Amino acid sequence: MVLGAVVQWWLWSSEMWVSGGGVVTSNEKVELYEEGRFLVEGYTGITMMAMEGVVLKLPSFSQLVNPNYFSNRTSRNSVSISPNLLLLLRQLLFRPHPFLSATQPDPILKSSTRATDEYEMARRKVAAFVNASESSEIVFTRNATEAINLIAYSWGFSNLKAGDEIVVTIAEHHSAIVPWQILSEKTGAVLKFVSLTEDEVPDTKMLQDLLSKKKTKLVVVHHVSNVLASVLPIKDIAKWAHDVGARILVDACQSVPHMAVDVQNLGVDFLVASSHKMCAPTGVGFLYGKSELLAAMPPFLGGGEMISDVFLDHSTYADPPSRFEAGTPAIGEAIGLGSAIDYLSQIGMQKIHDYEVELANYLYENLHTIPGVRIYGPAPSQTVHRAALCSFNVEGLHPTDIATFLDQQHGVAIRSGHHCAQPLHRCLGINASARASLYFYNTKEDVDDFIRALVDTIAFFTSFK
Ligand SMILES: Cc1ncc(COP(=O)(O)O)c(C=O)c1O
Repeated sequence: MVLGAVVQWWLWSSEMWVSGGGVVTSNEKVELYEEGRFLVEGYTGITMMAMEGVVLKLPSFSQLVNPNYFSNRTSRNSVSISPNLLLLLRQLLFRPHPFLSATQPDPILKSSTRATDEYEMARRKVAAFVNASESSEIVFTRNATEAINLIAYSWGFSNLKAGDEIVVTIAEHHSAIVPWQILSEKTGAVLKFVSLTEDEVPDTKMLQDLLSKKKTKLVVVHHVSNVLASVLPIKDIAKWAHDVGARILVDACQSVPHMAVDVQNLGVDFLVASSHKMCAPTGVGFLYGKSELLAAMPPFLGGGEMISDVFLDHSTYADPPSRFEAGTPAIGEAIGLGSAIDYLSQIGMQKIHDYEVELANYLYENLHTIPGVRIYGPAPSQTVHRAALCSFNVEGLHPTDIATFLDQQHGVAIRSGHHCAQPLHRCLGINASARASLYFYNTKEDVDDFIRALVDTIAFFTSFK
């Protein structure tokens, strides 16, 4: 913390956006003041923007905000940003949402109607954000993992039998591998894995070769790799899958927050993403599914909200998306996701993407020059755009030592481990890697800070040799 530093903050709720400023008065405290009337009714999202109209003004972001500032995909929970200051603001500004805390009979009714309206509004925002043709094609889930399990248990168990094949890349996150292993064990369906090319991207030629008109029923691919930073040609893959009569499921966790994603243009059948990677709360994610596919799918979980009628001997089910949203949903979180979508849309996804490509190249080029550093995934070029992240190792050092030293000594948070992609790490011949990743609120100065800190970290560890 820099005592006396002036900060500016900015946040929004489902109701409105507010901003203000403050002064850092102690290691723990920032005295905040508001600009304009303070009308926030309930916290639904909070972030800071470094790209334009700088929101957090400090000599160095990293000096104020210990871990996670550099770490949209690298913090422990891989959330988009959760530095201490944000948590502090959240504590200061949180007010129980009127939707959820009404105590008078009349307000309860009005509030619950309003909660439903806002929840459905959030669904429409998600639908528009990914260009679904109807909002009923969006199912709210707990996260992307649950969305993938929903497809496996509902679509998978009703459509796959022994001998059918699911084509998956070895670079998938565990959440896009394990549900299919469970399904395969129970149905006898077979998993076919796509490996990497020499450039360390999933081999799309091999993927094409694995597709079989008779056997392939599903293709499961990520859009952007959370380790390799590579971007797959989803539109082409969707066409290849459809040519053999297969369905395609896209794990868009690392693309939806960072670029414009258009499910109709891509031609995908299913797509999943998580809210907490896009400046929005944890506890909610979504599944996009083509309406005719969702309409034919049986429920995943049974209970309240997903029924049409319940009798003692049987029940009938609601239409999608309610059929797949059993029980009380994460109402506030979904509304928060809607607010984050407003915020991201206001900046513009193309703008975010272009800015991040520039940051990605800057990160890669600078990291690449450090002796002993090995970066995984493709080298950026005119035709190859990397996402704004680098997974790497330093010769002779363990990634966890690097991450710990960077955090403790420099306040720079990167992540170390297998990043929920063990098969990919095995394929690369390693157990673990360090990963630095950026979002649109990061700057080239943040990258410079990181590079300086990494050089110091390497010098520290090599001084013992
Ligand atoms: C590419 C990718 N897929 C899936 C997931 C799983 O997301 P969640 O844990 O929110 O379900 C992640 C999370 O890190 C991810 O990066």
